[in-house]
Amino acid sequence: MRLKIAPSILSADFSRLGEEIAKVERGGAHLIHVDVMDGCFVPQITIGALVVKSIRPSASLPLDVHLMVRDPENQIEQFLAAGADIISFHIEALSEPSEAIQRIKGEGKKVGIAVNPATPISSLDRFLSRVDLFVLMTVNPGFAGQAFMGSVLPKIASLRKALDERGLKTDIEVDGGINLATAKSAVQAGATILVAGQAIFGSAEDPERATRNLSLHLEAFLKRGKLPP
Ligand code: DX5
Ligand code: ZN
Repeated sequence: MRLKIAPSILSADFSRLGEEIAKVERGGAHLIHVDVMDGCFVPQITIGALVVKSIRPSASLPLDVHLMVRDPENQIEQFLAAGADIISFHIEALSEPSEAIQRIKGEGKKVGIAVNPATPISSLDRFLSRVDLFVLMTVNPGFAGQAFMGSVLPKIASLRKALDERGLKTDIEVDGGINLATAKSAVQAGATILVAGQAIFGSAEDPERATRNLSLHLEAFLKRGKLPP
């Protein structure tokens, strides 16, 4: 399956982060999504490079760092040094990101550009062939556990179309309100990476089982021919 599941540790138990990560790894996750918030770009403050550094040795999956911060260019060195494998920043926070893209790529890491629900997809046109992934926010960034905004689905589809027209296989990561139902809609529209916080760490199920369920559910959906392979 080309789809990837990226559990967001924002909804994990921070007193046992290593164990929480091990659970989703056993459940078949593909990436560990790390939500960095600075209290300026978004209202909440979460975690920084020190936490990435401390989970790096125990996590075997790539660490997918989502910077929801003002002036993200000032943070990139710290996250590269801490062991981030993918770094995404918001186009609303850095409108001239050429240097940041080069810096991250130059280190052999993957780079992504994130966009808020209200930001037009045309803001990404200049970067279609220059980054490894686009993060399409399906909630307003800042908090876990919000409802998926279906109004973003046409944006996902039009970005996928623009990428296809150029022969680009760039990942589209959807972030916010992903569960068994919304994951299918997002994938049908063209998403290839699904971030899930509450659906994995906040459900009644164990995070290992919740990860496996999401994966099996999507695989079954693919097999029924409802989605592109
Ligand atoms: C929102 C974060 C998301 C969040 C997703 O600002 O970027 O990654 O953790 O959480 P859920 O899946 O609960 O919406
Ligand atoms: Zn995120």
